[in-house]
Amino acid sequence: MKKKYYIETQGCQMNEYDSDKMKDLLKKNMDFEPTLAKEEADILIVNTCSIREKAQEKVFSLLGQWRKLKNKKPDLVIGVAGCVASQESSEISLRAPYVDMVIGPQTIHRLPEIYKDSLKSNKTVIDVEFPLIEKFDNLPSVTEAKFSEFVTIMEGCSKYCSYCVVPYTRGTEVSRPLNDILEEIDILVKNGTKEIILLGQNVNAYFYDDGKGNFVNFGLLLFYIARNKGIKRIRYTTSHPNNFDEQTFLAYEKIPQLVSHLHLPIQSGSDRVLAAMKRGYTVLEYKSIIRKLKKIRPEMTFSSDFIVGFPGETDNDFSQTIELIKEIEFEQSYSFIYSKRPGTPAASLEDNISEDKKKERLNYLQSTINSLSKERSKSIIGKNVEILVEGVSSKYNDMVTGRTTNNKIINIPGTEKLIGKLLKIHVTELNNKTLKGEVLTT
Ligand code: SAH
Ligand code: SF4
Ligand code: F3S
Repeated sequence: MKKKYYIETQGCQMNEYDSDKMKDLLKKNMDFEPTLAKEEADILIVNTCSIREKAQEKVFSLLGQWRKLKNKKPDLVIGVAGCVASQESSEISLRAPYVDMVIGPQTIHRLPEIYKDSLKSNKTVIDVEFPLIEKFDNLPSVTEAKFSEFVTIMEGCSKYCSYCVVPYTRGTEVSRPLNDILEEIDILVKNGTKEIILLGQNVNAYFYDDGKGNFVNFGLLLFYIARNKGIKRIRYTTSHPNNFDEQTFLAYEKIPQLVSHLHLPIQSGSDRVLAAMKRGYTVLEYKSIIRKLKKIRPEMTFSSDFIVGFPGETDNDFSQTIELIKEIEFEQSYSFIYSKRPGTPAASLEDNISEDKKKERLNYLQSTINSLSKERSKSIIGKNVEILVEGVSSKYNDMVTGRTTNNKIINIPGTEKLIGKLLKIHVTELNNKTLKGEVLTT
C-alpha cells in the first residue's frame, strides 16, 4: 500500500503554488498518494505564512494538534514549510521538537532528500537556505492542468517596507529565465489551461538578463506570453507601484487577453504614512499610474491592499485613505490591521492607537469598499457584457460561473460544457451579492 500525505496551506498564492509543487514531488518522486484524513497520513506538512503575528501563532497551535497524532503513530513525519519555517526555524525545533522537517520557501524541491534525512535522524532536519533559482530547475513538470493556473515568474522581495517580513523569509527578488516560463505555460495550455495568473511578490519587478546582452522586463514578458494563442486570459498578482515599465502600459493597449482589472497595493492614502512605511511612492505617483491605465482602458477596475493602524496613523491620515478609496473606486481589498513583526524596522515604532480604534477603521474601510463594489454590480444590471466561464457555480448546480474582464463574477444557466468559453451575456439581476445573467450567443 502506498504511503499517504496531507498538506495544509496558509498564506498567499506563492504558498499555494509551492504546495502544488510539493504535492507533485510526493506523488511522482516519492510514490505517495494524497489523503484528506490527517489520521491516515504518513506525512503531514503545513505550508506557513508569517505576514502577521496571528498567522504565525496559528502554526504552533496546529502543530500542538498534530503532536497528538504523532503520539498515536510514532512513524508519522511532520514538516513545516514556508515563511514561518524560514523565519523561525530554530524556534520551531525548540518549541516543537517533534517536528521532523523544516523546509524554507526556496528549498521545497529538496523535499525528497530532506524526508530521507529525517527518517535517519532523531532531530529536526532544517533546510532554509536561499539557493537562488535552483528550485525551479528541480521541480517535476506539470501534467494535470486546470482551467486557470498560477505560474511563478519571480520570487522574493528587495523593497524592505518597514513593517514586512517577506524580504527576510523569501529572500531578495529573483526572476526565472524567460524560456522556462514560456515552456511551462506552453505545457499548461496544451493540457487545457485557458487562464494564466503570473505570480510573484512583486510580479512586475520581473527582469531577466541572460548574460549575453538579452534582457526582458515585465511588459515584454507579457508580449511573449500573449503569443500563445491558446491563452484566453492573462492576469498577474501582486504588482508594485514602483515597477510599472512603459512596455506594461503598451501591453494594455495591444494585448486583449490581458484583463482590465488590476490589483495594485497602496497600503495607505496618506503620504506621511507611506513614507513611514518606506513604500517609496507618493499618493500622487500612485494615482498617475491609475490615470494612465484608465486612459488606455476606461473600463478598468482596481483592487488594493491596505494596512490600517500603522504606528502614528492619525484620523486625518485614515480619512485620506478613505478619500482615495472613493476616488479610485476600489472594489476589493486585502485589508488588515497592522501587525508588529519582530526584526522589522517598524517594530521599534511606538504603537499609539487603541485596538478598538484600529478595528473601527478596518470595518469602516471594508464597508466603504463593499458598498463601492455593490454600486458597480448594480450599474451593470441590464447591460450586455462578455464573461469567460470558469466552472460550475458553487451555489446553484444548474448554473455556471464566469468573470468579466474587469473581474465581476456573474452566474448564468448552463452546464460544465460551457467552461472555458467566452460568452456575450445580458446581466439580469443582483441577488444577495450574486449577479445573474443570460446568454446572448453561444
Ligand atoms: N509585495 C506586495 C504585497 C505582499 S505582502 C506589495 O507590497 O505590494 C501582502 C500584504 O500583506 C501587503 O500588501 C500588506 O498589506 C500586508 N502586510 C504585510 N506586512 C504586514 C504587517 N506587518 N501587518 C499587516 N499587514 C501586513
Ligand atoms: Fe513586503 Fe513591501 Fe516587499 Fe510587499 S514590497 S513584500 S509589503 S517588503
Ligand atoms: Fe505569507 Fe510568506 Fe506569502 S509571509 S503572505 S506566505 S510570502
